Amino acid sequence: MGRLIVVSNRVALPRRGEPTAGGLAVALKDVLKSNGGLWFGWSGETTKTPTSGEIKALRYQGIDYATIDLNETDYKGFYAGYSNNILWPLFHFRLGLLEYDRRQSEAYRRVNRDFAKALLPLLGPDDVIWIHDYQLIPLGAELRALGARQKIGFFLHIPFPPWAVFSALPGAEVLMRDLLAYDLVGVQTHRDLGGMVNCFQDGLGLSPDEDGGIRTSIAGTERRTQLSAHAIGIDTRGFANTARKAINGPDAVRMKASMGERKLIVGAERLDYTKGLPHRMRGFGALLDNFPQHLNQVTYLQVAARSRNEVASYRDLRRELDQLAGRINGDHGLFDWTPMRYVARAVARDTLAGFYRMADVGLVTPLRDGMNLVAKEYVAAQDPENPGVLVLSSFAGAAEAMDGALLVNPLDPEAMAEQLDRALTMPLAERKSRWSSMMQGLEEQTAERWAEDFLAELNEQAAAREPSL
Ligand code: G6P
Repeated sequence: MGRLIVVSNRVALPRRGEPTAGGLAVALKDVLKSNGGLWFGWSGETTKTPTSGEIKALRYQGIDYATIDLNETDYKGFYAGYSNNILWPLFHFRLGLLEYDRRQSEAYRRVNRDFAKALLPLLGPDDVIWIHDYQLIPLGAELRALGARQKIGFFLHIPFPPWAVFSALPGAEVLMRDLLAYDLVGVQTHRDLGGMVNCFQDGLGLSPDEDGGIRTSIAGTERRTQLSAHAIGIDTRGFANTARKAINGPDAVRMKASMGERKLIVGAERLDYTKGLPHRMRGFGALLDNFPQHLNQVTYLQVAARSRNEVASYRDLRRELDQLAGRINGDHGLFDWTPMRYVARAVARDTLAGFYRMADVGLVTPLRDGMNLVAKEYVAAQDPENPGVLVLSSFAGAAEAMDGALLVNPLDPEAMAEQLDRALTMPLAERKSRWSSMMQGLEEQTAERWAEDFLAELNEQAAAREPSL
């Protein structure tokens, strides 16, 4: 048996000033701990010298890491540019925000090639490689071009749009072909699987076989790429424990004291335009306008951890939110009641877990989201005897399985206000039954289970391919 090699742009090393990691990092740590292996990715450092592929190896909390630095220009083109100003809006159906630049496309390719060159010498013949997310789509193809024959799987953590959207990207076909270097390509939901299959069919004229795999012949070699959906989960028990402890911690106690008898609505994410934060604030404003019985009876805490500051659309969003939060408080606030508390900084996970547990409503309303682990964490954090209510966008991947949530279309502030009112006034029995059906799902579909399922399927695929090589 070889090792498991996880590759992602960002690795789960603690970085100064970043108390909350992205969803991907949180989910993968446990998997590597229990499987043994290596995590390879960008160090988080930029240099003025050309990207050299020089490896920095270290062991931290029982996991081996190998990281490389990126040259400043490569970083800008690959990370801020192509990954986050082109692919991110594209995959989230936001073509109006996509700013194409051919040089960035070249930087993306170059960095993926540099990753491949640096990773190849670290690989043993039986290792299984698992590559993550949109920053590294061509990495499998670049590894194959260097001769890698190992099993390689890829998982996309964000939504997969249909070809009608995806084809807006110059070179869309090239990116789709890159996926065919993998033995298995996983996405979060059946909706995303539908999007990906549609891209293969309409973009490349390739249809899946009856088992959901795409067969191709590249340079005389028969290949098969399995496509499937695997919904990511969280460490449900672990997070529930964290929340149970945090509720008596100093931050939760201070928070509670500051609330008085008022109810709490909580939202927490990276400050990102996919999260629908302006719409959410308008929805809360509509609650106060249309249901005045909640005036002075409820507080909405929105944590928005600053993210990707080098991208202009994120800076624009920050300005918009600052303005909106000020407007809502100016319109509705009283001298002794601030309706909305807006924190544009990251908050430590433990502290957040305590806030989730004390909140009557978890408000998670992205415009598009691959899965959304905050929705899952909010549910896991609840007190079984007095659970809160999840108000969830139907455009989050999490909505596919979370049947106990109140679903909303985030574009409709009045509808959001209605669901918020319903959540704030829901009887205990209904809250309990909605919560327990979701919690049962979360206990089955953990992060660990997600990884095991994906890796089991990857092993199967590669074995089936062997005789035709
Ligand atoms: C999302 C993406 C991840 C990414 C994370 C944080 O969860 O799917 O790939 O790592 O956001 O974003 P950042 O740009 O800071 O890595």
